[in-house]
Amino acid sequence: MDLSIIEDDLSLVETSFQEYLASRVPLIAKIGKHILSSGGKRIRPAILLLSSRLNGYRGQRAIRMASIVEFIHTATLLHDDVVDNADIRRGTPAANTLWGSEASVLVGDFLFSKSFFLMVEDGNLKILKILAEATTRLAEGEILELVKTGDLDISDQEYMELITSKTAVLISAASQIGAVLGDAPEEIEDTMRSYGLFVGIAFQLIDDCLDYTSTHETFGKTIGTDLREGKVTFPLIVSYKKADGDEKRRIKDIILSEKISHDDFDKVQGLIEKYKGVAATMTLAREYVSKAKKCLESVPRCGERDALVDLAEYIVKRKH
Ligand code: FPP
Ligand code: MG
Repeated sequence: MDLSIIEDDLSLVETSFQEYLASRVPLIAKIGKHILSSGGKRIRPAILLLSSRLNGYRGQRAIRMASIVEFIHTATLLHDDVVDNADIRRGTPAANTLWGSEASVLVGDFLFSKSFFLMVEDGNLKILKILAEATTRLAEGEILELVKTGDLDISDQEYMELITSKTAVLISAASQIGAVLGDAPEEIEDTMRSYGLFVGIAFQLIDDCLDYTSTHETFGKTIGTDLREGKVTFPLIVSYKKADGDEKRRIKDIILSEKISHDDFDKVQGLIEKYKGVAATMTLAREYVSKAKKCLESVPRCGERDALVDLAEYIVKRKH
């Protein structure tokens, strides 16, 4: 992914994290720095910065907005790792492993609240509304996922709704905010929102593949977590539909069991391979990347547009 044209702005975003983490309570900066400096891909800030430049914005507010979006994302990760009982994030121990669930949830609350404080300070009601809607939907998505735990009859539509809410809406908001900063006409704003949405859907589809196909070292998080947590993702949905009666029963027993062994995981992985669940998910992800790229077709060629195309392509090529 070539982000050289926004390199300087991305460094300024990193610097502003330090400023925004400042607090009388040292634990906040400690946990905040731990997760923020552990090598996130900064996809949301990058999209926001590129979208704002693409739409002619050249001021400092994009730096603040990009930091806010990453803060919100970081808050959700802190909460998500508690919900998912995750022990590793970005190749290092998750905050909940090091400081416990309570501290993780509460620092997540700080980041989330600080984000809205910074938005109010900026004073743009439209951006405030975009992010308030996005975070509401995000929480809704995460709750939908909880409700659908272990449900192998989840429909394709429900799964798509779930990943759109939990992942794509925030990426979509980042992309739209860039257009808002550039005072772009309504239809360009819609185009940028769609670009982010499609990239976000592709991103989560690939994430769900990597949970079955990657290795802990490459992915930076524990493999097989989705199955262990009873999350029925697209590779499994596709494969379960095609499985015969015996195989369906086996999958059901495994997903509903208290503890999933390595052998259980291998069995499910084998069935996903047999029924090409990962391949089908990758194909769908590629379709969304194409849709994202199509959004940019009407935009005149420039470095920012090329970088956004590159970023969309990176989503399906990524290994972590
Ligand atoms: C990661 O999914 C989780 C999310 C993208 C959303 C998490 C949202 C919340 C916890 C609720 C909202 C919280 C706030 C502060 C508004 P994943 O578990 O599939 O990915 P992973 O493998 O990286 O953990
Ligand atoms: Mg998780």
